[in-house]
Amino acid sequence: MAESPPREPEPPTERTERRWLLAMCLLLAVMMAVVVATSLAHALHPPSNVETIDPLSLHLAGEFVENNLGAALEPDGSVTVRLLAQQYSFVPNCLILPADTSIKFRITSPDVIHGFLLVGTNVNTMVVPGFVAEVRTRFAAVGDYTMPCHEYCGLAHHDMWARVAVVPKDQFSQLGSTQRRRCAIH
Ligand code: CUA
Repeated sequence: MAESPPREPEPPTERTERRWLLAMCLLLAVMMAVVVATSLAHALHPPSNVETIDPLSLHLAGEFVENNLGAALEPDGSVTVRLLAQQYSFVPNCLILPADTSIKFRITSPDVIHGFLLVGTNVNTMVVPGFVAEVRTRFAAVGDYTMPCHEYCGLAHHDMWARVAVVPKDQFSQLGSTQRRRCAIH
């Protein structure tokens, strides 16, 4: 019986490479599992409020027609603000709002994804066409807040921003609904 030749010892570089390959495959598998698990659990949905709307008919009928935009005083004393984010402006692009009042923003987009951010507050969400984003806040102090679009939405993205002027509660209650959209009177 012929003796089989003695096995050559494996070169150490190959052994190390195989171990690294195995480690990388394990790492990839763990990362994929994390991505799938988090997206199933809580990540893959529009932010803040899952409410759908037809982006093609926003301006024709319903909550977001032009004369229904801006700040509306609710019977319980809170304020609801309806806004459109579109290439490349917010409508209305100026808002006068009361300080120390519960405020609910409802905002949607007729075209592409925009960002809705009020610097210095908790307001920060994406505006996704087909969905209504809803954010609540309360302004503690009177003052001016800037509202830039912070999601790249096209060539004039950098020009897309609006202004919020927060005034004392009693001053706000004297304003009519169209005056609440004009910062010039402030
Ligand atoms: Cu709208 Cu960037």
